[in-house]
Amino acid sequence: MIKLENINKIFANNFYALKDISLHVSKGELVLLKSASGGGKSTILSLIAGLSKPSSGEVLVKDERISKLPDDFASLFRRQNIGFIFQKFNLIEDLSVRDNIIVPLIPSDFDEDLIEKRVARLLQRFDLSEKKEEIVRNLSGGQQQRVVIARALINEPSIIIADEPTANLDEKLSLDFVAFLQELQNEGKTIVVATHDPLFFNLPFVDRIIEIHKGVLL
Ligand SMILES: Nc1ncnc2c1ncn2[C@@H]1O[C@H](COP(=O)(O)OP(=O)(O)OP(=O)(O)O)[C@@H](O)[C@H]1O
Ligand SMILES: [Mg+2]
Repeated sequence: MIKLENINKIFANNFYALKDISLHVSKGELVLLKSASGGGKSTILSLIAGLSKPSSGEVLVKDERISKLPDDFASLFRRQNIGFIFQKFNLIEDLSVRDNIIVPLIPSDFDEDLIEKRVARLLQRFDLSEKKEEIVRNLSGGQQQRVVIARALINEPSIIIADEPTANLDEKLSLDFVAFLQELQNEGKTIVVATHDPLFFNLPFVDRIIEIHKGVLL
């Protein structure tokens, strides 16, 4: 499903954020990326999502060479295949719950009815039906987090990527998130989570933990 082949990511002053990283994630796998701060987790996730390009090496997602795609094709591919859950929620605070959830579908030629059906289903699933027209600023932290997950699912992606998804959550909400993650895994999604939250490291349903140290795979 996801292949990184001999990836180097070099920033200014010849700084190697990633050094010769190769890793494969199979369909339906739930994989954790673990490292200390600055290890390179977010850099890997943004390469997988086509949000940035490697300095050398290749990234393939569902056999598409996403690292070679021009940016607009990469973002189209991302919209169609990948749900991204950000550490900072990246919600648009002055927009309603509904409008935030459909952001990944814009611009698209989706049928209005189909969009509203999907939104209704997600609102119900995440217990947000009553909050559909509320602006996000007024929601509780846990509700905002569920909007973030709903937004990542609106395009029905086969791949879910989450960057430190519990960093801003208390223990109860972190456990809720973990339960959602298991549900997504049961639905057959391929999932990559970057985290250093110890909560994740003893979960029986995690398939693999990939550890990185200063850009090098351990
Ligand atoms: N755009 C950039 N320009 C320069 N250096 C960068 C850039 N993005 C990341 N880096 C550097 O690359 C390294 C890896 O960063 P990355 O954000 O991937 O780490 P991380 O494992 O996600 O850390 P954290 O756990 O703190 O989120 C860091 O040293 C960081 O400073
Ligand atoms: Mg990070």
